[in-house]
Amino acid sequence: MLDRYGRIIDYLRISLTDRCNFRCSYCMPQEGLQVLDSSEFLSYEELLRIIKVLGQYGIDKVRLTGGEPLIRHGIVDFIRGINSLGTIRDIALTTNGSLLGTMAKELKAAGLRRVNISLDTIDPARFRRITGRDELHRVLAGLKQASAAGFHHVKLNVVLTEEVGEADLDFFIAEVQQNPVAVRFIEYMPIGRQPLEAGTGLIQSVKARIQVRTGDVLQPCFPVGGSGPARYYRLSQSQGWFGFITPRSEHFCQQCNRIRLTADGKIKPCLLSNTEFDIKKALRSHCSDQEIYEHFARAVWAKSAQHRMGYDQPAGEIHRAMVTVGG
Ligand code: 5AD
Ligand code: SF4
Repeated sequence: MLDRYGRIIDYLRISLTDRCNFRCSYCMPQEGLQVLDSSEFLSYEELLRIIKVLGQYGIDKVRLTGGEPLIRHGIVDFIRGINSLGTIRDIALTTNGSLLGTMAKELKAAGLRRVNISLDTIDPARFRRITGRDELHRVLAGLKQASAAGFHHVKLNVVLTEEVGEADLDFFIAEVQQNPVAVRFIEYMPIGRQPLEAGTGLIQSVKARIQVRTGDVLQPCFPVGGSGPARYYRLSQSQGWFGFITPRSEHFCQQCNRIRLTADGKIKPCLLSNTEFDIKKALRSHCSDQEIYEHFARAVWAKSAQHRMGYDQPAGEIHRAMVTVGG
């Protein structure tokens, strides 16, 4: 699928649920969230139909996200189902990691190829403050199990809402030096009226501190595991990579290759836009495969050249909370 700016869209990100067992301050609205009734969710059958149809139009990469996708029952069989369509070469998952300790192996066996784990800190008190949960140990166990299960190039997502702590910096550096993981620092995006204010200088700061700490220079390198928005760097003696994702200070919209689907069946041309196209109604009124394609083609065509966050768009203008779209 081509958009009106000539970008090829080959990547579908699917939010499987708007629920999460964590309460990250940068993702959930402060006042709490009215979660959807699960009857509102697109069923796995409906999702497989969509993926099958879009597979004929070049969508060959799918990412499952949430909320927390691993709390939706039946996800392992769903992944197996995607795999057996034969058109998706890359199935990926974004998770908070808390359930990976028990699920990593079966996810791998079902055909999941890659995992991104959200991990902002290894300080239990700070972890509790950010996520509202006392579950750091489970996330760390999940990370370990993901590597043990044979996932390559596991990515850690670190949202920057404040300076990275000293111990955290050391942990992330050690991870990158010793393991083929990518630690990605992400600029906080003020979406869905979160209360936070976080400057964009945090990226430059952490980059500089990594170099001071290691006495090394971060060398730009090729993207890791696909075509995402991160800019990657290596240290001279390291197994892994650092990535920096800067939607606000330096957007990457020219390379955008994705379209999103929310758990309740809204196609979103862009995370940072309020435009949505409903697909559920069509699906539930016996539409043809051609009509499914046309809904997505319309949404792809509605992608704008670039988002406006960090330019002229006021914070909080994006209505949907992050937890209902997925990162
Ligand atoms: N800004 C930037 N990244 C966010 N994430 C969640 N909320 C935000 C936000 N407001 C990221 C987290 C997680 C993924 C689901 O999305 O890092 O890994
Ligand atoms: Fe849950 Fe992830 Fe959002 Fe945190 S960032 S509340 S773990 S969906």
